Order: sequence, then C-alpha cells, then structure tokens
Amino acid sequence: MLKHLSKEEGDAPLGSQSPPAKRPCPDLQVPWNPEVDLCWHTLVRGASDECEPEWCESEDPLFILYTSGSTGKPKGVLHTLSGYMLYTALTFKLVFDYQPDDVYWCTADIGWITGHSYITYGPLANGATSVLFEGLPTYPDVSRMWEIVDKYHVTKFYTAPTAIRLLMKYGREPVQKYKRDSLKVLGTVGEPINPEAWQWYYSVVGEKRCPIVDTFWQTETGGHVLTPLPAATPMKPGSATFPFFGVVPAVLNESGEELEGASEGYLVFKQPWPGVMRTVYGNQQRFETTYFKKFPGYYVTGDGCRRDKDGYYWITGRIDDMLNVSGHLLSTAEVESALAEHEAVAEAAVVGRPHPVKGESLYCFVTLTDGVTYSRTLEAELKKQGKIMRRVLRKIACDERDLGDISTLADSSVVEHLFQNRCCVGV
Ligand code: PRX
Repeated sequence: MLKHLSKEEGDAPLGSQSPPAKRPCPDLQVPWNPEVDLCWHTLVRGASDECEPEWCESEDPLFILYTSGSTGKPKGVLHTLSGYMLYTALTFKLVFDYQPDDVYWCTADIGWITGHSYITYGPLANGATSVLFEGLPTYPDVSRMWEIVDKYHVTKFYTAPTAIRLLMKYGREPVQKYKRDSLKVLGTVGEPINPEAWQWYYSVVGEKRCPIVDTFWQTETGGHVLTPLPAATPMKPGSATFPFFGVVPAVLNESGEELEGASEGYLVFKQPWPGVMRTVYGNQQRFETTYFKKFPGYYVTGDGCRRDKDGYYWITGRIDDMLNVSGHLLSTAEVESALAEHEAVAEAAVVGRPHPVKGESLYCFVTLTDGVTYSRTLEAELKKQGKIMRRVLRKIACDERDLGDISTLADSSVVEHLFQNRCCVGV
C-alpha cells in the first residue's frame, strides 16, 4: 500500500532524473500502518536494476483470472506462458497494426483480461509505447479521453462500447474541442457495439479516417478470436467480422449440427489456438463440462451469433444465464443468491433488460418473505446486497472492529472467526 502523499510530493516531473514520482492521492486518507505497509520508493531504492529471468516450461501456468460462471462460483481461468504470450503479442501487432512509432492506449482496467492481454502482455512483448490511465472518461470533464489523446499523440485507441455510449450522450462538442489528428486505429471490446455507437465512434471520434476493430474475445480465449484487421477487412458496423488466423468458428443449431452459409445459432470454435485457456484452476472437470460437454468436439463460447450471407459474424449476446452490464459479465445465479441471502427475500429471479448506455442492466424480480412489506428503504438495501460482505471483509482486513450493521449476514459468528485468524501478507 502506498503512503498518502501531498500533491507536491507526487508531482515530480515525468522523465526527470529524480526518483520516480510518488503516486498522489490527495483525497485519499489511507492510514499508514507500519506493521504491514512498506513504501515502494524505499524498497526499490536498494533494488538491483537487473532481474535474472526465471526459466520456465512453455506450458507452466502464467496466471489465473476469475470470471463469472453461469452456475456456482466464479471459474479460475488458467492461462499458460508461451501460448498466451505468443497469441497476445501477435494479435496486438496485427489487430492494431502496431508500428514502432505508435502510441497505444487501452482504457481498460489492468486487472481484467483486456488489461492483462492488451495493456500488459501484448504491448510489452512488442516493446510498444503505451499510455496507462487510471481514472474516469468523464472526470474532470467529458473531454478527458480526447485531451489525453492530444497530449500524448495517441495513435491506437482501444475502449469499450459502454464508454462510447456514455460519451455520445454529451454530443460532439467535447470531442471536437481536441484535434485527435494522431489517431489511426480505434478498437472496441467487451460487448456488442450497436451500429449507432459504432457510427459515432467512426464519424465523430475518428472523423471517418480510422478503421474500427471490433474485437470479439473472452477471458477464456486469451486474445482476439473474431476481429477485423484494420484497413484490410471491409467493415460492417456492429460486426466483429471474421476469425483471426488459426481460429475456426462454426455456428451450431440446438442439436449440434453445423449450419452453413447465412445462419444463426451457437458460436463455437472447432480447433484450439495458442492463447486458449488450459483449464479451470483446480477443476478440470468443470472446464470440460462448461466448454466441451454441450457440443462434444467444439469449444462453446456461450454466445449466440449470426453469420450473414457475406460470412460476417455478428455476436447476438449471451445464450447462457449471463448478463453483460457495461462489459462486465455477471451471472444471474450469483445475483439471485446475493438477493436471497437477505432475510426479507424469499425468492429472486434476475434477468437482463436493454440499457441505452450499459448495454444491459439488471432487472430483479423479488418475492418478499411473508409479513414483510415493500418499502424504498428495503429496495435500497437490496441494491446494496452482495456488496455487504465485501464491506465487512474490508474492515476485517484493516482490523477495524466497528462493522456497522451485520444483521443480514447468514452466520455472523464467521466474522469473529475471521478476526481471530487474521493475518497479513506483506509485499
Ligand atoms: O459475450 C461476449 C462479450 O463479452 C464476453 C466475454 O467477457 P469477458 O470474459 O469478461 O471478456 C471481456 C473482454 C474480452 C463474450 O462472451 N464480448 C466481448 N467482446 C465482444 C463481446 N460481444 C460482442 N462483441 C464483442 N466485440
């Protein structure tokens, strides 16, 4: 954890010979705990500039990233070293047409697969110059992204449809305040992009100069699997177009038969590619059941798709019990069980409802326990439900005994148990 710094302390000029700038967080009062907190700057001062590589096998695990499962707990998607690295490096290079003088910016959070593959591994493996951004597209104002594009002369820009739809609401003016003439390729990922948002991205942001790469992929696929190649693939607004090299898609009907030509059905893949996940961590059985059982011999994406007469693929959305809210995959089962944990709830059913900015929003049907009457307060509590445990866990982690209301916990004795067994993992 970094120490709270004053604005001045954090403002060392970029590229100066002085020690790296400390991270300013003027509004964050994080209490410094000398027992567990170490200051990064003190630690790196004595560290060597050289770091001997650790030699690994190509199929050694690289990382595990958890993604929602349509049933039960989230799945630990396991990627391995060489295949994943090769695949992210190659897709980054070709899908963004990466050239050595490019300045690339992906707005994703580094903790998600988009950040892993296309902020960290892909760009770094290519030695790319990247903009790393931690903030909001609307703060301090809705021109923030375009201001950054001009400031760093960003050439390749990668974001999500939900961000585009959000910015669209504010019109052209905040975009046109900035030149954006460095931009060459615009990318999108995470959810289907509606043609209206696509047109706005293409015409207003890219001024019809920049090809759009609508990249379809998943935590599981490691990297892009359906995507245009910029300026080489004729685009259709809202279509992720064609498979990347080595990826062989098929469209199946409910009986598992491959459909030919223009058709609609389950999107599956017929052969592996280097970046595909290797297993569900600790549960190979679940890996096989989730992805290979429904249609033996195929990898099932869980997405529906349409293939048009020209062979273009159009993702129609999830066909399992998953929702995509602002590019976040949520399982209806997880939300339902969070709601059902509330003592006022007898039963809950959750479905998706189209939302103009988020793509989908949660629509929850709730049956209240006998004798409980509906109120706005209850509604507000239910909205918070599911976040409650996290709030409690955060306090336990900080050894704070004032937990607030924990009456909705199914078994509150677990809290004392966690306090008793609390230990800290230092950096
Ligand atoms: O439903 C598809 C949607 O996002 C799902 C994968 O989510 P996740 O594993 O969190 O990874 C997100 C970042 C790769 C897919 O099953 N999805 C992703 N990209 C697109 C998309 N839907 C339509 N078009 C896309 N370009």
